Amino acid sequence: MKIQAIATLASDWSGDCLGIGFFEDAVDLNNDLAQLDQRLGGAVQELISETEFKGKSSEQPWTRIAGQGPVRTIMLIGLGTNETFSLDQLRQAAAIAVKTAQKQKATSVALQLPLGNEDTTAAAQAMAEGIELALHQDIRFKSDPEAQKSGEYPQNVSLLGIANQTAAIEKAQKICAGVILTRELVAAPANVVTPGVLADTAAQIAADHNLTLEVLEREDCEAQGMGAFLGVSLASDLPPKFIHLTYKPSGTPRRKLAIVGKGVTFDSGGLNLKGSGSGIETMKMDMAGSGATLGAAKAIGQLKPDVEVHFIVAAAENMISGHALRPGDILTASNGKTIEINNTDAEGRLTLADALVFAEKQGVDAIVDLATLTGACIVALGNNIAGLWTPEDSLAEELTQASQQAGEKFWRMPLEEKYFEGLKSPIADMKNTGPRPGGSITAALFLQQYIEKTPWAHLDVAGPVWTEKENGYLNVGATGFAVRTLVNWVMSAAN
Ligand code: BES
Ligand code: MN
Ligand code: ZN
Repeated sequence: MKIQAIATLASDWSGDCLGIGFFEDAVDLNNDLAQLDQRLGGAVQELISETEFKGKSSEQPWTRIAGQGPVRTIMLIGLGTNETFSLDQLRQAAAIAVKTAQKQKATSVALQLPLGNEDTTAAAQAMAEGIELALHQDIRFKSDPEAQKSGEYPQNVSLLGIANQTAAIEKAQKICAGVILTRELVAAPANVVTPGVLADTAAQIAADHNLTLEVLEREDCEAQGMGAFLGVSLASDLPPKFIHLTYKPSGTPRRKLAIVGKGVTFDSGGLNLKGSGSGIETMKMDMAGSGATLGAAKAIGQLKPDVEVHFIVAAAENMISGHALRPGDILTASNGKTIEINNTDAEGRLTLADALVFAEKQGVDAIVDLATLTGACIVALGNNIAGLWTPEDSLAEELTQASQQAGEKFWRMPLEEKYFEGLKSPIADMKNTGPRPGGSITAALFLQQYIEKTPWAHLDVAGPVWTEKENGYLNVGATGFAVRTLVNWVMSAAN
């Protein structure tokens, strides 16, 4: 599919589907649209009247134009009120419009959307993102070739009235290639995406975009004293992989950053086995943090900012066998801290503990980890909002900015020190699991024990990485959440 921005007016365009955007209560036909209406025999005005179209953001009526005229279908796209308009509304509107055009089997599509006060370059990027992400379909596991048909439409999407935005569209396409990689890693089942496959994926990114890769095998991790990480993989037949992918700019880096993602390719719970009704069948997505980390690496490798970035994933599978980690066992992490395991299902924090210690050893200016860490975070914030914990206000501000630009939602949560009492162990330095109340907070406090002095933020993305409902540019399944926030964060460090 090709996306282009062209100066052409709606009244001069010809092709299959023409979508025209309106703000709420500002549905009037200016010169160009009046001319278009005339050219289409009054079809635009008729569609507005018949559907009582007001420009509300939920409205996207369309109609077929009879005969062999310049366009086959015309679509009205409601954008809501100009006052509350944001880049994300533009992204969503473009997404829904191309999905409708796809159902119409439109090969060529044009969208003319008003930009409000948004910057043209940012708007072109947002629309291109919405289009790319909306049309991504994952048919890898369907044997029926019919399933591939809808992927043939559309071939060509033109953004009318905004010329010279090739760079913005290309940027969007690089970022979306990362998001789509993430979606496909997260959606693939645990018998397809194993720790080894995550390492192979990192190798492919390194080869394609000139990053360097180091993979620590089990023995290497033992030598580094990564007892917490290795404890999680004890019962799996699949060997753990500690993945360290590094992007270095050609010039002097303005900043050095680390992104650490939870990479549990399947979370059975371990001996504290997840029961039926616990959602165990969805636990292939427990590597979504690492999926986003690798997706961000793919995007950053193409965007090439003047920032050094370390992408780190301690990949393992949490299983049961005679070798399994037992409740009550004590593990020692690579910073020497000991952990009494009171619940083998709190495994993500064990893998992250050693990954955070490793990240800090890289001498970076900031570390962000992201993880499908707790069901408690979903209880607190629901499925659309991720939790953000950091002791640094400036890092919170940077990440919030990056997320708003991406249209991805995060909410800052407290690192309430008093709650660490819930992790106190009579025998070891700490337990791995606190009480049920505040479960996402004690998880964050646990991770903080593995950071010495580097500014750090923890993102609990358990809710938003998966959706059961189609919504705008999101299709059912893996969402690719956090890739665009991470990319924006890294890119902002280059300025
Ligand atoms: N991977 C889960 C968290 C999770 C739950 C992610 C639901 C996505 C959807 C994590 O490893 C886990 O099992 N957490 C436990 C922690 C508990 C044992 C303290 C949980 O949330 O129940
Ligand atoms: Mn678990
Ligand atoms: Zn888990």
